[in-house]
Amino acid sequence: MGAQINIPTILCIGKATQDVFLRDDEFDPHKEGKVLYTHLPLGAKLDIEEAHFTTGGNATNVAVTFARQGLHSRYLWVLGSDDPVSKAVLDELDSESVDTRFVQQRPEVKASFSTILLAMTGERTILNFHGVVPKTKDVLSQEDAFDGVSWVYPTALGDYETLEKVIHEAKKRGSKIMLNPAGSELVDPKRLKAMLHDIDVLCLNKEEMQLLVEGDTLEELVRHGSTYCSVVIVSDGPNGVCASDGKTIVSAGMYEDVPVIDRTGAGDAFASGFLSQWAKGKSLKESIIFASANSTSVVGIIGAKPGILHEHTALHDMPIEEKEI
Ligand SMILES: Nc1ncnc2c1ncn2[C@@H]1O[C@H](COP(=O)(O)OP(=O)(O)OP(=O)(O)O)[C@@H](O)[C@H]1O
Ligand SMILES: [Mg+2]
Repeated sequence: MGAQINIPTILCIGKATQDVFLRDDEFDPHKEGKVLYTHLPLGAKLDIEEAHFTTGGNATNVAVTFARQGLHSRYLWVLGSDDPVSKAVLDELDSESVDTRFVQQRPEVKASFSTILLAMTGERTILNFHGVVPKTKDVLSQEDAFDGVSWVYPTALGDYETLEKVIHEAKKRGSKIMLNPAGSELVDPKRLKAMLHDIDVLCLNKEEMQLLVEGDTLEELVRHGSTYCSVVIVSDGPNGVCASDGKTIVSAGMYEDVPVIDRTGAGDAFASGFLSQWAKGKSLKESIIFASANSTSVVGIIGAKPGILHEHTALHDMPIEEKEI
């Protein structure tokens, strides 16, 4: 008999959105005579070169990385029962083999959506409708969603109370937690810091990490973060990334210098790319290489999901160094 393969289940919790990208040269702020980035003329009817409809929301983006990487990926949230965005999100997650059995649909909830005015250069302006968010007690009423879960990945939950309750539930069940906080989770760094001892893998960009600990360089930030969490990863866009698992420190540069078409979802692809490998038992270095490859692929295509890598995609080398702590 062959060895039993135990595929980890990852539970992703948080808001979903639809992103509508309107892409046109007119949104380029550096080109003379382009007016749409400064004002939309009243009463005008304007043609747009390209329109792309994709779904987003950090938790749904990361759920797709886990599913495409062959893990059991589960999504927990409350969506609307009537709005077209909620339907689009559910359809997309179903088609990606993300387990949506625990998603409730309620008539009073409306998923958020964003209209993104995108220049050909990748620069953008976002018009965001926040939607009507569900109540904490409704999100967490599906306790069975936590059954058999190895990792919980909460993000963009909308408030600290929900995050604290999710962390509590995960700990109670013995699940590990990865945290890559989104905007609403960063408004009160003190409150966030109080939760860090319960986090197994913390992933932040440089500016965000500087809200929590002292440090000028990525390595200093990672070392200081390591006093709270066993794995800490700090990214700095095209300038590279530093990570530690308490035994070694890995510093990496850019995976590939690609033209950035749309950087929506870069952070999600990076963080989920890391966990998709780490949860399978890959090394810190291997997990960082895949995270970098996944995010590089995502920034080369419009939308947060289309560029997410599938299992068995061939990777190439990148500038990366590993040293003992
Ligand atoms: N301009 C770029 N060129 C190539 N890769 C990039 C670029 N920007 C981001 N990436 C990739 O995406 C990863 C995460 O980006 P970044 O450090 O900007 O995270 P973030 O600020 O959390 O992103 P987000 O705004 O999506 O949350 C980087 O480590 C890198 O691999
Ligand atoms: Mg981010």
